[in-house]
Amino acid sequence: MAKILVIDDDPQLLRMTELALERRGGYEPILSADGAEALAKAREDPPDLAIVDVMMPGLTGYEVCRQLREQEETASIPIIILTARGQAVDRQAALEAGADEHVAKPIAMSELIERIDDVLKDRSTTPSPSRIITFLSLRGGVGVTTLAVSLAATLAREERGRTCLVDLCASSGHGALQLGLRPEPNWSDLADGAELDDEAIANTLLEHESGLHLLASPVLPLIQREISGSMATDLLDALSREFEFLIVDTPSTLSEATMSAIGAATGTCLVVAGDPASVQSALGTIRALGERGRELSIIVNQTARAGQASSESIERVIGRSAMEVIPFDPGQARAMVKGKPLPLSRPDSPLAKAVNGLAEKLA
Ligand SMILES: Nc1ncnc2c1ncn2[C@@H]1O[C@H](COP(=O)(O)OP(=O)(O)OP(=O)(O)O)[C@@H](O)[C@H]1O
Ligand SMILES: [Mg+2]
Repeated sequence: MAKILVIDDDPQLLRMTELALERRGGYEPILSADGAEALAKAREDPPDLAIVDVMMPGLTGYEVCRQLREQEETASIPIIILTARGQAVDRQAALEAGADEHVAKPIAMSELIERIDDVLKDRSTTPSPSRIITFLSLRGGVGVTTLAVSLAATLAREERGRTCLVDLCASSGHGALQLGLRPEPNWSDLADGAELDDEAIANTLLEHESGLHLLASPVLPLIQREISGSMATDLLDALSREFEFLIVDTPSTLSEATMSAIGAATGTCLVVAGDPASVQSALGTIRALGERGRELSIIVNQTARAGQASSESIERVIGRSAMEVIPFDPGQARAMVKGKPLPLSRPDSPLAKAVNGLAEKLA
């Protein structure tokens, strides 16, 4: 039940509002006739919304607003200022004090309830949940990193939302390589005893000129050490609070980190190229993952110029349609050498266009 804190020195208004909230149902009224007392109540048990009168003995409603905004635990509570002062300047003063809405008295209770409903509805729809898209192949070299980098770069270019590429490969730094960045710092700095808190993770991210962020992997192979499943889960959990899109490049094994990335993902793309070993690995992966294997999206990537099976025959053998077919793009080799992903350097190239189609489907 949403808790509504009503602060007004007029006992009659408090009583009417209480009755109206109870009649509406789903709201629990908490009443206070005094600003200081209301602030203490709000701090102790933050309400879901506060309705604040302006003219009160002791603290004014504006002061109550400001103090609610200053305290961490009450800073994000939606506030409706309810006041007999209905001029434009009063509205301005209310918004400057930190209120979300300014409502002039007198007001019919039914209308006040509507405003409360609207404010709470807006709040509940504001933060969009992150999409986590994991790229995977147990056959190395089929373009997992290329597609993860290209999709992340496309999302950044199209300004779809804050995007972070997460390179969970044990030792490669290939994500950074494709973006022309030096992979320092990288997640091995976090594993090296640094505490895994939000600030430490944020300090480990690299930022590309496109606005894309990257959690890089180390270039030098770490001997007998890879990212653990719980660390991968914690990283993705922390990053999903900061970013709308996480694009995850995974090692070519069903390691703990890979399994965590599949578990956290809203969608997993299994990359398949046209050589028999890749097709066999894809079939094996689908089977090994059981229920989750059936939910994988198949992405056919034509990494070689010639001698590869067609996408149709790959789809036939796997028994599934591809979500997207990425053509062989001769420009990719140069893009890699220059550290400039095709979606950013040549958005009209065949690879960039196909990845744009993938972004439309996934985002
Ligand atoms: N659609 C494509 N067209 C042309 N070249 C491609 C395409 N996709 C990938 N490549 C090239 O194929 C090579 C392997 O790609 P990439 O490194 O992305 O594969 P990977 O699956 O991440 O490999 P690894 O197993 O080493 O992590 C790279 O040289 C890349 O530029
Ligand atoms: Mg790779």
